[in-house]
Amino acid sequence: MKFDTIITGGTVVSAERTVKADVAIAGERIAAVGKGLARSGEAAGARIVDAAGKYVLPGAIDVHVHLEMPFCGTVSSDDYDSGTRAAARGGVTTVLDFVIPHRDESLASAVDRWHAKAEGKACVDYGFHVCITNPARHIPEIPALIASGIPTVKEFMIYASQGWQADDAAIFRALEVTREHGGMLLVHAESAGVLDALIERYHNPADMKKYGARLHTMTRPNFVEAEAIQRAITWAEATGGRLYIVHMSTGQGTDIVAAARRRGVDVLAETCAQYLVLDDSLFGRKDGHLYATCPQLKKPADQERLWRGLARGEVSVISTDTCSFTREQKAMWQGDWTKIPMGMPGLETLLPVVYTHGVLGARMSIKEMVAKLSTNPAKIMGLYPRKGIIQPGSDADIAIIEPEHRVKVDYRRMETNTDWNPFQGWSLAGFAEKTFSRGQLVVDGYRFVGRNGWGKYQKRGTPGRP
Ligand code: URP
Ligand code: ZN
Ligand code: ZN
Repeated sequence: MKFDTIITGGTVVSAERTVKADVAIAGERIAAVGKGLARSGEAAGARIVDAAGKYVLPGAIDVHVHLEMPFCGTVSSDDYDSGTRAAARGGVTTVLDFVIPHRDESLASAVDRWHAKAEGKACVDYGFHVCITNPARHIPEIPALIASGIPTVKEFMIYASQGWQADDAAIFRALEVTREHGGMLLVHAESAGVLDALIERYHNPADMKKYGARLHTMTRPNFVEAEAIQRAITWAEATGGRLYIVHMSTGQGTDIVAAARRRGVDVLAETCAQYLVLDDSLFGRKDGHLYATCPQLKKPADQERLWRGLARGEVSVISTDTCSFTREQKAMWQGDWTKIPMGMPGLETLLPVVYTHGVLGARMSIKEMVAKLSTNPAKIMGLYPRKGIIQPGSDADIAIIEPEHRVKVDYRRMETNTDWNPFQGWSLAGFAEKTFSRGQLVVDGYRFVGRNGWGKYQKRGTPGRP
């Protein structure tokens, strides 16, 4: 087999080991990993990429993004063009987006709508989860969805105003059906009743004037998330279904997931980069409303517990929950925190934030980082071993990073479509110096060089275990 590209002399990282080796690419796949590949018979005419002194990582897989999502009275500002360019620049080679069906629409029709958003635009590979917004209609459609290559559905325990909220019966039923058909239920866990009561308590002109954007955090104390995680776990334990808690943000939630896993409940949890490094003191800033996301940023103690949860294997994945909004969109709040479009950009900074604050910050090894950003997401979401590892036969999705090369975050020089960034001015190492998407160079010298339409839709198999 003739090699097209050989990445020489880098440190190739997997979840288990780091090894100095060359990586040969033929077409869209990894053809060989080993020493001296540039001198082999298959090397004639191959492009040589010198990676000496650099890490050669399996591309990150961001399993939680919202591109061009209608939400909070507007549409998130990163679409499949800017969002997947941002992904590539951040070394993310696959994104999983959430399809949101209308209540009177079939899951299959909503999936078709999402295909139309992505096709011809995506610069890296992508796949879908599908949300259950009308349980009576949608739960019976889950088996066909799983058979079609989408094994993951999501339910929201909040968002009644969006028309998306699922009650306990819907969670129970979806766990039963996904268990029967080899799928997995993803849950946004927040306690709607208490959250709504707290919102009502503070939703008056005097308190809004006094507290401003801080009401976003004051109405979502940690027990709002913890109680909902506990309840969802109760239904997972009762049904034997597989549960995946998305964007877990609290120390208490981590304790509850850890305890459940110890007694054998089939529950997995993801956190997001922002919950590891940003805290709710930001809401005190004049522009604090920009940081409103759902669930919101918590306290330094929560960050500590989440890092520990990652180290102990209680938290399996780090994602972004990318849901970008511009300053103009965020300004829709006009002093009423319940009207802030909730969400932040994150795709371009996921790997740099985790590398800088996790690996360089001595909180995790580079192998653990690869596990949380790449290998575990691939396994859990049914993409492994096509993705999530550098080995012969896998897709040649590769991010090359320079261990010490720092870049100052500046939204003006990013692919992300926002005129602000939660990490503006931060000095981060771990941006991709080169990114390969299925063998195609899409980032070179830290600059995006890919093209729209290169990204391919990914059918997925049965969710595995990390
Ligand atoms: O604020 C966020 N995270 N927006 C996206 C919707 C969600 O709950 O994931
Ligand atoms: Zn959510
Ligand atoms: Zn989300």
